[in-house]
Amino acid sequence: MFATTLEHWGYRHIAKPFFFRRDPEAVHDRICGIGKRLGGFTITRAVVRTLFCYQHPMLVQTIRGVRFPNPIGLTAGFDKNAELTQIMPAVGFGFEEIGSVTGESCEGNPKPRLWRLPKSKGLVVYYGLKNDGCEAIARRLRGRRFEIPIGTSVARTNCSETVPIEAGIADYVKAFRAFADIGAYFTVNVSCPNTCGGEPFTTPDRLELLLRALDPIYTYKPVFLKLPADLTHDELDALMDVASRHRVHGLIISNLTKRRDRPTINQTEIQGLDKGGIIGRPVFDPSNDLIAHAYRRINRHLILIGSGGVFSAEDAYEKIRLGAYLVQLATGLIFEGPQLIGEINRGLVRLLKRDGFSSVSEAVGSSVRPC
Ligand SMILES: Cc1cc2nc3c(=O)[nH]c(=O)nc-3n(C[C@H](O)[C@H](O)[C@H](O)COP(=O)(O)O)c2cc1C
Repeated sequence: MFATTLEHWGYRHIAKPFFFRRDPEAVHDRICGIGKRLGGFTITRAVVRTLFCYQHPMLVQTIRGVRFPNPIGLTAGFDKNAELTQIMPAVGFGFEEIGSVTGESCEGNPKPRLWRLPKSKGLVVYYGLKNDGCEAIARRLRGRRFEIPIGTSVARTNCSETVPIEAGIADYVKAFRAFADIGAYFTVNVSCPNTCGGEPFTTPDRLELLLRALDPIYTYKPVFLKLPADLTHDELDALMDVASRHRVHGLIISNLTKRRDRPTINQTEIQGLDKGGIIGRPVFDPSNDLIAHAYRRINRHLILIGSGGVFSAEDAYEKIRLGAYLVQLATGLIFEGPQLIGEINRGLVRLLKRDGFSSVSEAVGSSVRPC
């Protein structure tokens, strides 16, 4: 406990001021490089584990045959090219989602494409699905053993060739096939607005076409669908109706918000930042609203993963009580530091005990009244 407090202080007062004075993408690349090296040796993994990792039996869940040692996962976009899969279990994550991975490799949008919003506790992201492409990334992971479940987020390559619907679907199919036998679960990401052609698969008719093309591809893995934050309840209902007719085992709610008028966004911080979507704190309330709505409608038929604006155990617990079995984060890690994962897991055990639950899954949806 004392060690965690010290790590928290060290990140807040030394590392973060140092990082936050530098270019966000350059810092991110440097951190990934260090993480990759630390993950390469038993001894460095053991040191990181001793410093950060917290496990407890109350946090373990088995979902669709996949064992999650705790409910806190690294969200897609942080480890685009699957270079951190060996170190993230030592940091204390219960699962990790790599990618988004696309059919072809992609440089992403021109720089700059990542901005910090310190007052809003958020980030503006305009990466445009930079990644090495499905073949190279699958080669990197094939034959590896993973300590925690690894999900693969698949999306459409960001280029003009994949804008026609059939070409876009073919691109998803290619990435999906490449990972059919690697890792623990799939995410079909239809919620990246920062690309050529935007988000074509967030309408029911196009989502229907995409899922129909993915259904016949053999995989032992459960499939999740990742949705945007800016849906109305009716739009969410329509997409859930489509998902329920296909091989979709769960939903990730949500990706970023495109709306600049969210009350938690400090308007002076986003002046001149017209491109990209916003993540972090500004997505917390809208994604929670969608999680609760989805849970009310589907109860436990689809597994929900909550994503958006988690900075503490209380935030993660709120998503769980609204219906999420699992919770993902990225911005919280950047703002609070790597000790956050252990802090959240330790805090979750405290909150579960306080409220008389014996496990995470018992708490799922406990603050939502089914309609
Ligand atoms: C640098 C960066 C890149 C991202 N790229 C992707 C991506 O490729 N695919 C995706 O589904 N989400 C992507 N996201 C969004 C996250 O997966 C997540 O949904 C979002 O950040 C909300 O969680 P947070 O508030 O904890 O950051 C990205 C996020 C960040 C910070």
